[in-house]
Amino acid sequence: MNTKIKRIAVFTSGGDSPGMNAAIRAVTRTAIYHDLHVYGVIGGYEGMINGNIQRLEKKDVANIMQRGGTILKTARSKEFMELEGRKKAYETLMAHDIDGCIAIGGNGTYTGALKFGQEFNVPIIGLPGTIDNDIFGTDYTIGFDTAVNTAIEAVDKIRDTADSHDRLFFIEVMGRHSGYIALHTGIGSGAGSVFLPESETNIDLFTQNLQRSARRQKLFNLVIVAEGNKSGDAVTLANRVREIAPEFDTKVTIIGHLQRGGSPSCFDRVLASRLGYHAVESLLSGKGGIALGVINDKIHQTSFEEAITKSKPLNTDLLKMVEILAL
Ligand code: F6P
Repeated sequence: MNTKIKRIAVFTSGGDSPGMNAAIRAVTRTAIYHDLHVYGVIGGYEGMINGNIQRLEKKDVANIMQRGGTILKTARSKEFMELEGRKKAYETLMAHDIDGCIAIGGNGTYTGALKFGQEFNVPIIGLPGTIDNDIFGTDYTIGFDTAVNTAIEAVDKIRDTADSHDRLFFIEVMGRHSGYIALHTGIGSGAGSVFLPESETNIDLFTQNLQRSARRQKLFNLVIVAEGNKSGDAVTLANRVREIAPEFDTKVTIIGHLQRGGSPSCFDRVLASRLGYHAVESLLSGKGGIALGVINDKIHQTSFEEAITKSKPLNTDLLKMVEILAL
């Protein structure tokens, strides 16, 4: 036990994700259990720079487990990328005698935490909060499961109308740099194909194959496209198909930010609670500069350096499987 830790700060940063509130609750309650004072920074690094910080008591985190978004607000701060901004943030922490921080967010959050922690010698523990599931050092990130379930619910509905009208649908899901959401949505919704940022799409070949399968009376088709798909987004791909195969009734749906909101799934609530609890325990045992995750159902620690420089590759077996299962 590191008895030096008396006051900690928790904040969320980057894109919000369902389950962040469950993590904030777990951090706050575990810290109070250990007689620590907990402060919530409002608006991520931006709030830290502007001195927007407030004490969190037990009751402040009551009734938030089931809520999407983040009660602490979030932002992507440009000012924190500059040393001047980070100095101001440090002054805020010092004004409140903060001895350690828990940062909930994605790769951008970890990058900031690494720099800040090294420059000002502040112990920081990172928790993976992003719907993208693109963080090295954890099997799943907080929010991914909920986001994929939201996307699947939408695709199920599109399937009904696609089937009724014999239409070809390009359905775009989130993921600028990562295909996890698209791949899992594709498998879970039984889509015919999945297009990802990690691999090339030959849309002309895809269309020819579809023309052949249309001849075999497979009249409707669902294609899941990650927003950062290497060969173009859903609109671009659909437009190319319309040129080559005007006989198809081609439609586009972009699910967008719907995937970021909503009540977190049980999986995300449990994951967030476990990670929040262990983040406080880690600070108390004198750790800092690390991100926590869960690998094979065990809590796993990764240095911030490793977490931000290594990428978590997609399981290519799953990609192959999508096509086979949709035969
Ligand atoms: O990182 C989470 C994420 O939702 C990505 O999937 C998406 O590309 C991006 O954030 C969208 O960011 P914003 O909400 O700032 O438009």
